Amino acid sequence: MDIVLSGIRSTGKLHLGNYFGALRNFVRMQHENKCFFFIADYHSLTTHPTPEDLHGSVKQVLAEYLACGLDPEVATLYIQSDVPQIPELYLLLNMNAYKGELERCTSFKEKVRKQPNNINAGLLTYPTLMAADILIHKATKVPVGKDQEQHLEMTRTFANRFNRMYKVDYFPEPVAFNFGEDLVKIPGLDGSGKMGKSEGNAIYLSDDPETIRKKVMKAVTDTGPTQPNQTKPEAIQNLFTLMKAVSSPDTLQHFEDKYNACEIRYGDMKKQLAEDIITFTSPIRERIEAVLADNDYLRKVALMGAEKARESASKTIRDVRHIIGFREF
Ligand code: TRP
Repeated sequence: MDIVLSGIRSTGKLHLGNYFGALRNFVRMQHENKCFFFIADYHSLTTHPTPEDLHGSVKQVLAEYLACGLDPEVATLYIQSDVPQIPELYLLLNMNAYKGELERCTSFKEKVRKQPNNINAGLLTYPTLMAADILIHKATKVPVGKDQEQHLEMTRTFANRFNRMYKVDYFPEPVAFNFGEDLVKIPGLDGSGKMGKSEGNAIYLSDDPETIRKKVMKAVTDTGPTQPNQTKPEAIQNLFTLMKAVSSPDTLQHFEDKYNACEIRYGDMKKQLAEDIITFTSPIRERIEAVLADNDYLRKVALMGAEKARESASKTIRDVRHIIGFREF
């Protein structure tokens, strides 16, 4: 069985894009692989959340993972900060991570541009922490989006460098895993681009029906097609892409036909889309609420995940310490 690992930073609620782009596939993968899914709460410290916000976000994401169908009895579901072997491996990897390569990392350069007053060492070494996350369980398949490719490449560099330096064949090379056909990119509601937390164009799994209706009705459209079978501009294609993800094939076909016949009424389409999103997200939202209200269950899940993750991680750290030369007398 392949070892699969992925993490989500605990910086707010999950949206439809996270669901179709990641979580739905995590849920499918958990039965065919040895899976580790974790909440990257150390990574979220680069932006200095308050203690309340930090704790609240971790709890929210954990509840959302569970509500979407990740099974803590099947996959190892844990919180990064519950596994002290991760920061230990991070420290060790940092000794062979060079300032130049870290500074050249695109995500770092972007942060430097966006938050010039908070360029901390945690940001610079974000890729070594991510490498530690992956290598601590010797994972080989890492389901992540395109924006994480470079971090994966750096992980491979650090793993190979370690192997070469100590003349061992210890760390395997992890690769970014995209789901091929199964990967559905969910667009935002603002006419262009993908759904994102920071773009203000997202529908959250925890949004109530009224909020969803309001957001969908405000989605960008145009004045409508003027010629039969006209290609759709991006904003319109986006509505159809969303509909394809949540509605029945018949519903989708109905609006395709209307569009192609230049008879579409976007108001009708949006109403239908909103209701189908609500039908789709309501059971998830209800489970999120139920799980959030059940602190004993959350505690149990976190404890169980931490135990399983530490067991795997401590084996790696024991080996790595020995390889490096930390040995008993
Ligand atoms: N950097 C990832 C993101 O922003 C989150 C993450 C942290 C991660 N550690 C990881 C993803 C390890 C995969 C594997 O989305």
